Amino acid sequence: MPSTDHSDSSTVLFPRDFLWGVATAAYQVEGASEQRGASIWDEFCRIPGRIADGSSGRVACDHYHRFPGDVALMAELGLSAYRFSISWPRIMPLGRGRIDTAGVDFYARLIDELLAVGIEPVPTLYHWDLPQALEEEGGWLVRSTAERFADYARAVAARLGDRVTRWITLNEPFVHMAYGYAFGVHAPGRTLMFDALPVAHHQLLAHALAARALRDGGHQVLLAHNHTPVVPASGAPQDRAAAQVYDALHNRLLLDPLLLGRYPDLAALAALGAPDLGDFVRDADLDLMAGSLDGLGVNYYMPTLVAAPGPGEALPFALPDYTSRFPGTPVTAFGWPVAPEGLYRVLTGLRDRYGAALPPLHVTENGCSRADTPDGAGRVADPERIDYLDRHLRALVAAKRDGVDVRGYFVWSLLDNFEWAEGFTQRFGLVHVDYRTQARTPKDSFAWYRDRIARARAGT
Ligand code: NOJ
Repeated sequence: MPSTDHSDSSTVLFPRDFLWGVATAAYQVEGASEQRGASIWDEFCRIPGRIADGSSGRVACDHYHRFPGDVALMAELGLSAYRFSISWPRIMPLGRGRIDTAGVDFYARLIDELLAVGIEPVPTLYHWDLPQALEEEGGWLVRSTAERFADYARAVAARLGDRVTRWITLNEPFVHMAYGYAFGVHAPGRTLMFDALPVAHHQLLAHALAARALRDGGHQVLLAHNHTPVVPASGAPQDRAAAQVYDALHNRLLLDPLLLGRYPDLAALAALGAPDLGDFVRDADLDLMAGSLDGLGVNYYMPTLVAAPGPGEALPFALPDYTSRFPGTPVTAFGWPVAPEGLYRVLTGLRDRYGAALPPLHVTENGCSRADTPDGAGRVADPERIDYLDRHLRALVAAKRDGVDVRGYFVWSLLDNFEWAEGFTQRFGLVHVDYRTQARTPKDSFAWYRDRIARARAGT
């Protein structure tokens, strides 16, 4: 990272309105699944073999009932913001029409609890838990789901909008398309490969339609994008070409329409049989998407090493196993490489690529999993997580010093929680959760983050 000044706090770098936060998502923490409509994750978790430990988010961290205690933990951290997601099937059990007032009331109480302790609620409207009823109508493969999402966004804003200023429409639309609809490792478990492409477009359209409605009501709109710096496996032209294709697919497919009003060149995919964008993109769609963000959320976990495909491979690139990707680089419990300089590259790279079209950035997720367990005295020592967060925050500081407008940082996650296909086997929390008793135990990283925020606030 070019910045050489290592002092990492000052009131200039972290003005009072910098958002210090943590993030969670409804299906991963709430539980209380009987008190809402069914989502694609309820269905997916029922299929044997899909979730590593055979679990589901049926109870998860029981945040639905325990949110007052969880907000008290957030207050102890000294947070300025909490990023949580609103479960669409809790608001609209069938994805359209009837609103469940008890569902709305849950979020109203959560928001009030947050505001009472000075924490800004930053809701994400969609974090992968599509109402099952809509999946049965085609899910994100069909255009009407985008319209239903806009109706849902309007309904939520009408009820909670007096207490929320910043909304995140979608979480990681690329991951949802790739894992959920192309490779089938997440709900809804479809394995459509390139035929999943309409899922990207319909999510972007959903975002744009909702953004228009929210902005008409005076709200600010963000989207949280999982961004990865793409590293060619070697300097060979084939590896570099493969890396460019992967970058277009993972990063630019979602961001170019929102920031530049056009899709990146996908000729390499078309050559392998991907559908033509013209099959599902309508004339006015890109105009609606362009400039529809007041801020961009960046979820950053790791860089991606990309090599040219081997003979006969179905994809125009090859992704070596996580663990072999960056030899010599430490990895998290998930096997993900720990590479804070990648965050610097993402933040500066976005600025360089999009220039004036780029709205202010927020790091809406960053964190790592570890196999944490309390010791005999009940302490959870997680020095690797502290080191991880510290080094990533330094990367953020370096990017800010180099002129990138970054206005917030959210740790994934407040609590250990349901990590999708990995079930409860990957723990990302600042707070340990005993899933048998629901006991919360703040880890050492919790105290570290509390002190880190306090130092930034004091400008020391
Ligand atoms: C991204 C997702 O938004 C979140 O749901 C997930 O738990 C974290 N990454 C960690 O994998």
